[in-house]
Amino acid sequence: MNNNAMIQKLNEILKWEYAGLIQYTQFSFLVSGLHREVYEKFFRKNGEEALSHAQQVGDRIVTLGGIPTVERGEVNVSNDLVEMLKLSHELESRHARLYAEALAMCGESNLALRLMLEEIGRDEQEGADHIEKLLKGLDAADTTAAQPSAVRSA
Ligand SMILES: [Fe+2]
Ligand SMILES: [Fe+2]
Repeated sequence: MNNNAMIQKLNEILKWEYAGLIQYTQFSFLVSGLHREVYEKFFRKNGEEALSHAQQVGDRIVTLGGIPTVERGEVNVSNDLVEMLKLSHELESRHARLYAEALAMCGESNLALRLMLEEIGRDEQEGADHIEKLLKGLDAADTTAAQPSAVRSA
């Protein structure tokens, strides 16, 4: 395994976990209407999971001799639940892809790193699959469709 390349890949992951922490927490603040009863907790929990992943990845970067980044990926903001879920699905898919890429670089010798990538990668894949199922059950008429949709990046 090439240590420097792995540190770089883990820092890319860390950047997008930070984006997840902010984006999900923002969604938990903004989600409104009847669905808030369920989705405030859903988004809050996803934000906490992103922080937990970020902490594991940051610790591993230092173990490999690197410096964890303080940058974050682009965050999207919306006040429409379906849009929030679509943006969440995009982000989870990106996370799943990044962990799979890191795993492909990992080799067999560093078992702690390998196990971490497998476990978090599975969480990301399951998260993406779960949101895909949520989106299947939703159509515009079901949700806060009356609200203007406003997606922007920060
Ligand atoms: Fe994550
Ligand atoms: Fe994720």
